[in-house]
Amino acid sequence: MSVLQVHNAVKNFGSLRAVDHVSFSLDQGDNLAIIGESGCGKTTLAKMMMGLVKIDKGLIKAESFSVQMVFQDPYSSLDPLWNVREILKEALWRNRSLSAGQAQEKMEQMLSAVGLSMGVLQRFPHEFSGGERQRIAIARALLCSPKILILDEATSALDTLVQKQIMDLLKKLKQEFNLTYIFISHNLRLVRNFSDKIAVMYQGKIVEEGQAKKVLQSPSHPYTRQLLQASFYINFK
Ligand SMILES: Nc1ncnc2c1ncn2[C@@H]1O[C@H](COP(=O)(O)OP(=O)(O)OP(=O)(O)O)[C@@H](O)[C@H]1O
Ligand SMILES: [Mg+2]
Repeated sequence: MSVLQVHNAVKNFGSLRAVDHVSFSLDQGDNLAIIGESGCGKTTLAKMMMGLVKIDKGLIKAESFSVQMVFQDPYSSLDPLWNVREILKEALWRNRSLSAGQAQEKMEQMLSAVGLSMGVLQRFPHEFSGGERQRIAIARALLCSPKILILDEATSALDTLVQKQIMDLLKKLKQEFNLTYIFISHNLRLVRNFSDKIAVMYQGKIVEEGQAKKVLQSPSHPYTRQLLQASFYINFK
């Protein structure tokens, strides 16, 4: 079942075309990685899917409120003046029928799902480690009951051990909440272990798309080959 359709999406910033006639679709449960050099339009495309950036041309079809995003730096995406209870509560605003007790229960369940204890509810973002902040950002995103979670360099700022813990958590949550993932990353080894499909972006366009292992083992587009060489992926795989 298709949960997202992107058809010839275009975004211009003045004379710069950041996203250039991008098309793809996602089925429920898909795990798509989007890779490509800095500035090729990945975050802009993600924000268009979230509805945070207006699409200039084309069409993006997804159920309302079905897309949530986790960003690279959770410190800037979590309001520093709010404690975790307020941050998580805000994510439940659409569900106005919830009583205070039910809201509390949902927050508790979600904190447990991301591996945090109830004790964190009174604390503020600056009182957590990077990995813990990312867990809070994931909990907040999931409390919105999304079908699709976009992870935009969501583990890049973390050291490798914490990165692995968050990746394991994301794998577990995908099953538990029946999620579809869009995983944006520069780390091709992570992509290979995590995602089933890959879309390669270059100058706003998707230039290659396919099964992750196949694209990484035998890239067909010259830019993908260049990207793999530049990342030393070929030497270290
Ligand atoms: N709000 C904006 N106004 C003007 N230009 C923008 C805006 N947002 C992004 N851009 C430009 O659009 C292009 C694509 O940016 P985008 O953030 O989507 O790249 P990216 O692929 O996510 O890069 P990175 O891997 O570094 O995160 C860049 O040239 C960027 O400078
Ligand atoms: Mg980006």
